[in-house]
Amino acid sequence: MKIVKTVREMQQLSDKLRENKTKIACVPTMGYFHDGHVSLMKRGKELADVVVTTLFVNPTQFAPNEDFEDYPRDFERDANLAEAAGVDILFNPSVKEMYPDGYNTFVQIKGVTDKFEGQRRPTHFNGVATVVSKLFNAVKPHIAIFGQKDYQQTLVIKQLTKDLLFDIKIHVAPTQRQSDGLAMSSRNVYLSTEQRSKASAIYEALQQGITAIESGEKRRKIINATMQNVLRQVQAFQIDYCSAANAEDFDEPEEFLPGQKIVLLIAAYMGKTRLIDNAVCTSPSGISPNPEKFIEDHI
Ligand code: PAF
Repeated sequence: MKIVKTVREMQQLSDKLRENKTKIACVPTMGYFHDGHVSLMKRGKELADVVVTTLFVNPTQFAPNEDFEDYPRDFERDANLAEAAGVDILFNPSVKEMYPDGYNTFVQIKGVTDKFEGQRRPTHFNGVATVVSKLFNAVKPHIAIFGQKDYQQTLVIKQLTKDLLFDIKIHVAPTQRQSDGLAMSSRNVYLSTEQRSKASAIYEALQQGITAIESGEKRRKIINATMQNVLRQVQAFQIDYCSAANAEDFDEPEEFLPGQKIVLLIAAYMGKTRLIDNAVCTSPSGISPNPEKFIEDHI
């Protein structure tokens, strides 16, 4: 595995690969790899000839009161894990390389950032959009892979790719979970053993939300309350948001329509650690799976 530290070298390597018609997949990360990252890298290997993983803890997506300084970092360990996952190039620029003195350009994303993460962390997605645009221009991939764990981020990236005319296919890979359902995240290392044992209630809440929807519940407030009740049973949790919304645009109707794609979104604090997770499901269409009954009902 090649380790690349400068934008110039990365671009030159990608130009050569592209000249040779080699398909490049990019997996943008902030490092401290876990099995979730490894699954994205392996997916990259399946979808392209060469996988470039970017490892950059991006300061512009952290607010001043957030954990940029404390964000877990271990380059040696990450490099070994990436190599074992089959990564061909690890692009690991410095902050100076990405944001040199005099740097002054930022990408601002509207609409899709209005609610949930974007509302709680008002500068976050502009930082993500800015760095991802720069990483796309450095790596010049054909395809880029992101985890569903950061659901709103995946919509932001799709919007950015469309609006700024990046000729890159965005692939969203499923969230990887621990055996008790807790979504894998680099920030899970902040949890004490006791906190960790309680954290899977987020997954339980999502499951109960899905069960309610699949049983025909369409009222958003009831779906939200179903999930919130699960979280409230764990005193250590402080709910930031816990809501069902239209999966495409985060619209929050009183009642979901039959066949509507719904996303369940949760952010909750366990002590100082903020955990997020989500699940996507479809409201039952109400069309009987029994064709004769369907004909009876509809003719
Ligand atoms: O999801 C992440 O790890 C980051 O937000 C990303 C996409 C690598 C941008 O810094």
